[in-house]
Amino acid sequence: MNKIQLHDKHFQIYIPSHEILAKVKELAQKIETDFEGKEILFLSILNGSFMFTSDLMKNINKQVEISFIKVSSYSGTTTTGRVDELIGLATTITDKHIIVVEDIVDTGITIDKVITLLSASNPASISVCTFLYKPSAFKGNNVPAYVGFEIPNKFVVGYGLDYDQLGRNLESLYELKSTN
Ligand code: IMP
Repeated sequence: MNKIQLHDKHFQIYIPSHEILAKVKELAQKIETDFEGKEILFLSILNGSFMFTSDLMKNINKQVEISFIKVSSYSGTTTTGRVDELIGLATTITDKHIIVVEDIVDTGITIDKVITLLSASNPASISVCTFLYKPSAFKGNNVPAYVGFEIPNKFVVGYGLDYDQLGRNLESLYELKSTN
């Protein structure tokens, strides 16, 4: 399947699933080496990172904790406006080595929010592992330590990422076609 349509938009294959899986294995091995002798808690950010997290975890050959979180922004009662919170963090993170698992780091705003909120609980360390990274769009404070693929500033779907809630179940990554 080299071309697909989601809603009104056309997409073409960008990174096939076998290349993705090879890269995920590499990332898992690097993490294992870097965290030898340390206990890791993986915090996967829903919804987009579910497929990446699943493949990554299947390739980690050590005992690890895995939990899933969501970032929510709501109108607070303070004058500062929006308030961010993490939903689903059921386990304690104090003194643990945290690896935040993301589908894509684009502007870096989401990951900055997550790291600020997690830091308040004094973990031993926080690293970011992302399937995709768009360096040209990035304006955040936390450069991801583990990156599957650096991509240009284009819109992509598949492997967990969606276009208006569709496309998350595709096992390959697709890019938006400029002309139909
Ligand atoms: P950031 O906060 O700008 O780094 O954006 C992160 C979030 O934006 C990701 O978790 C995605 O949900 C979404 N996003 C950014 N770029 C894309 C894309 O190309 N396709 C699908 N979703 C994207």
